Amino acid sequence: MDYQNILNNIEQEVLSKNVTGKVAAYIPELSCISADKLGMHLYCINSGHYQFGDSNERFSIQSISKVFALTMAMLVHTDDLFKRVDVEPSGDPFNSLIQLEREQGIPRNPFINAGALVVSDTLMSHFENPKEEFLKFVHTITQNDSIDINEEVYLSEKKHSHRNASLVHLMKSFGNIKNDVDQVLDFYVYQCAVAMSCKELATAFMIYANGGSLLNGESEIITPSKVKRINAIMQTCGFYDEAGEFSFRVGLPGKSGVGGGIAAIHPGQYAVTVWSPPLNPKGNSELGMLCLERLTTLTGLSIF
Ligand code: DON
Repeated sequence: MDYQNILNNIEQEVLSKNVTGKVAAYIPELSCISADKLGMHLYCINSGHYQFGDSNERFSIQSISKVFALTMAMLVHTDDLFKRVDVEPSGDPFNSLIQLEREQGIPRNPFINAGALVVSDTLMSHFENPKEEFLKFVHTITQNDSIDINEEVYLSEKKHSHRNASLVHLMKSFGNIKNDVDQVLDFYVYQCAVAMSCKELATAFMIYANGGSLLNGESEIITPSKVKRINAIMQTCGFYDEAGEFSFRVGLPGKSGVGGGIAAIHPGQYAVTVWSPPLNPKGNSELGMLCLERLTTLTGLSIF
C-alpha cells in the first residue's frame, strides 16, 4: 500500500475543511499556539515512517501523558492499582467532579483527570524522584533523551489548576490520595507539560502497537498482557465522553490531549499521531479525528 500517497491525500482533503473548533485557552499558554498547525506521522511496523506537515514540531502532549503514567504504574504496582481507579468509561467530561462525589472518590478510569491524579499519587509513593523517572521512561521508549517539558506550559497550568485541585482534594477526603495534594498536582501538571513531536509520539506509542516491546532491538518494556489492558482502556476511555464516537468513526485505541494531539495504534500494524490545535466541544482535536477517520477508511486498517 502507498501510505505516503494516502497521507498526502488526507492532508489535501483536511486543509480544505472549514474548522469550527477552538484552541484550548483554559491553560493560557496553550492559546499562544497557531490554530493552523497540522501534522501527521504514521509509523508502520513493517515499512517504517510516513508523515506530512508539522510532524516534526514539538507540542504539549497534555493528556496523552496519561498513557505513559498508567504504563509506569502498571509496571510497579500489581492489581491493587485497579482498586483505587476503575476501568469503566465515564461518559463525562475529562475534568468532571460530579461522578467522583457519587462514587466515593474512586475515578472511573485512569484517563480522566481524577484517574490520572490517582495514578500520579501511586507513582509518587513508589519513586523518590517521580518527575525524573517519568522523563526517563519517555526517553527509554523513544530512545531520545532530548525530550523535556515546556516550562511555560507547566507554569501556566500550575497557576490555573483550580479544577484539578478540587479533584485531588475531594479524593484526599475519601482517602484515595496518600501523598501531599499540592505535590500530586505538581507532578501531574509536569507530566502534561511534556513536549513531543508527532514523530516522537508515534515512536513512543509503538510499544502499544508492538506487544509491549521496542521495535528496534525488541527489548520488552511491558508484557503483552498488560499492553492488551492498556489498549483496552484507550479504546473505551481514551476520548472521554467522545470515546464511542471515536470508536465509531476511527476504530482504533487512542488517546487525545488538549494540546491538539492524538496518538492511536493498530496492534501488530502501526502507531499513528496527529496534531491540530483546534478542539471540538468534547476537547478532542477536530481535524485530528478527521485525519484518523480518513486513514482507517482509506487503508481499510482499523481494528474492527
Ligand atoms: O488537566 C488538564 O486539564 C490538562 N492538563 C490535560 C487535559 C487534557 O489534555 C484532556 N484531553 N483531551
